[in-house]
Amino acid sequence: MNDARLRIAVLISGSGSNLQAIIDGIEAGAIDATIVRVISNRPGAGGLERARRHGIATEVIDHRQFASRADYDRRLAGRLEALAADLVVLAGFMRILGDAFVERFEGRLINIHPSLLPAYRGLHTHERVIADGQRQHGCSVHYVIPELDAGPVIAQAVVPVYAEDTPARLQERVQAMEHRLYPRVVQWIAAGRVVMADRSVLFDGQTGQTPVRLETGQT
Ligand code: GRF
Repeated sequence: MNDARLRIAVLISGSGSNLQAIIDGIEAGAIDATIVRVISNRPGAGGLERARRHGIATEVIDHRQFASRADYDRRLAGRLEALAADLVVLAGFMRILGDAFVERFEGRLINIHPSLLPAYRGLHTHERVIADGQRQHGCSVHYVIPELDAGPVIAQAVVPVYAEDTPARLQERVQAMEHRLYPRVVQWIAAGRVVMADRSVLFDGQTGQTPVRLETGQT
């Protein structure tokens, strides 16, 4: 029965390649979940078309039509509650969510960030990693807490940084790993293997572990 499956809402602003990876995981039977809605704050987000192609219901909640961030967040929260979403997956959702929203959904709100957190919070991570001469970079999936990019990390994927890298090439390498990491984490949550308790990640009931690390080349 599909009724018992984890109900996911995916929030996007852009191309939705991470959304695609999750859709593919569900369709391949690797993720026991159902996407109940894809919500974008941008009407032209490419990910909306990806969702439609797979018969997934979409919705645009355009931030420009709201007077304040609090108004926007209240509408979004109301929709997610109405959809009875068990898990809210931020997949390139380029809006900061206010504290009230985040607190309301804490423990069922996850994000993917293009760095090995806690390093390189914020934007333009690939440029900053190259400028700093780092040899390693990657991505992190984390629970969202009010402080930006600071929530407990569930899992990370690591990629090498090469001397000749441009931000675009590095981003491509990181995103290839994002597409392997995010579906895996969503399935851990769907299976009840990963939960957040007291702002720590419990993995198979164990706390205090370092985040799971996926290295390039691992499947
Ligand atoms: C990803 O690189 C993710 O790390 C960041 O936004 C990007 C979204 O890309 N949070 P896409 O829309 O999933 O293709």
